[in-house]
Amino acid sequence: MSNRNLLGLLGENINHSFSPLIFNSYFRKLNLNCSYYLFSISKNSLSGFMKKLRNSLILGLNVTIPYKESVISCLDELDPIARKIFAINVIHNDKGKLTGYNTDYTGFKRALRKYDHLNLENAVILGAGGAARSVIYALYTLNFKKIVFFSRNRKRINRIMRDFYFIKVLKGHLWEEIKIKAEIRSSDVLINATPVGMFPDENKTPIEIDFQLKDNFLVFDLIYNPRLTKFLKGAKNRGALIENGINMLIFQAMESLKIWNREIINEELFIKNCEEVLNASISNSW
Ligand SMILES: NC(=O)c1ccc[n+]([C@@H]2O[C@H](COP(=O)([O-])OP(=O)(O)OC[C@H]3O[C@@H](n4cnc5c(N)ncnc54)[C@H](OP(=O)(O)O)[C@@H]3O)[C@@H](O)[C@H]2O)c1
Repeated sequence: MSNRNLLGLLGENINHSFSPLIFNSYFRKLNLNCSYYLFSISKNSLSGFMKKLRNSLILGLNVTIPYKESVISCLDELDPIARKIFAINVIHNDKGKLTGYNTDYTGFKRALRKYDHLNLENAVILGAGGAARSVIYALYTLNFKKIVFFSRNRKRINRIMRDFYFIKVLKGHLWEEIKIKAEIRSSDVLINATPVGMFPDENKTPIEIDFQLKDNFLVFDLIYNPRLTKFLKGAKNRGALIENGINMLIFQAMESLKIWNREIINEELFIKNCEEVLNASISNSW
């Protein structure tokens, strides 16, 4: 690693994050001289922080809620895929030049690989934030035939439809439970890309799944804490296959590390170490 040996997570109210744990335990295992910190920055301080970043010892950042879209205006360049998704979760500080990348998209895609044999092709997505954008783009590259997303916010729906004009199978609707359930019945995968149900609000769920789901229906919750959200528990009771956000978290983190410094990545060790530390730290209950 260069003399820039600091990494971290940029967001707001991020004390619950597991990222320092998974990166720092890996660095310790390999005896590497680098450290991963939390940078919890208020909206008013964001542009000042980004200016100082260029001349700092910070080599790279992950980016989380609420800055995945808003931080883009502070960067010099976007990787071509991040430009299409228009949401980033990784920044590389290359001698003062800041480039944004999206590894949520690759992380989600890799986590979904486990279900290749199901030939999934019709998806419903809940939410319209940065994570939903990454999921939409991933499903597009997987040639899904139908991608429908729901949001409470008409402006966000319109922005996504405009930015993803090239995805002909994409439809966005205002949040309406009856309509969501009707779409679920004609789909084969449902993805929660809202934070509803995340620790410490584990008793919440974006929707109640109160009807039987068809065989091999997959319900994917991007939340990883708790590992079994109320949403996933409801889906399991109605016959669904379920997947939480842990594998996506691990894969997006590993891809981030490759962007910052490809030389220090040992994929097998990184994944094993993440599984160990996350198993010991994430709650199973809701
Ligand atoms: N596993 C992973 O690696 C991974 C990676 C990325 C994200 N995630 C998770 O994915 C979730 C979303 O992250 P994000 O970055 O996309 O956040 P974000 O940009 O803030 O977007 C959140 C979306 O959820 C919607 N939402 C919030 N509360 C809602 C509610 N009560 N009912 C309906 N919709 C609601 C918001 O809608 P409005 O616009 O109407 O407010 C918005 O569209 C978080 O839980 C995050 O931890 C996991």
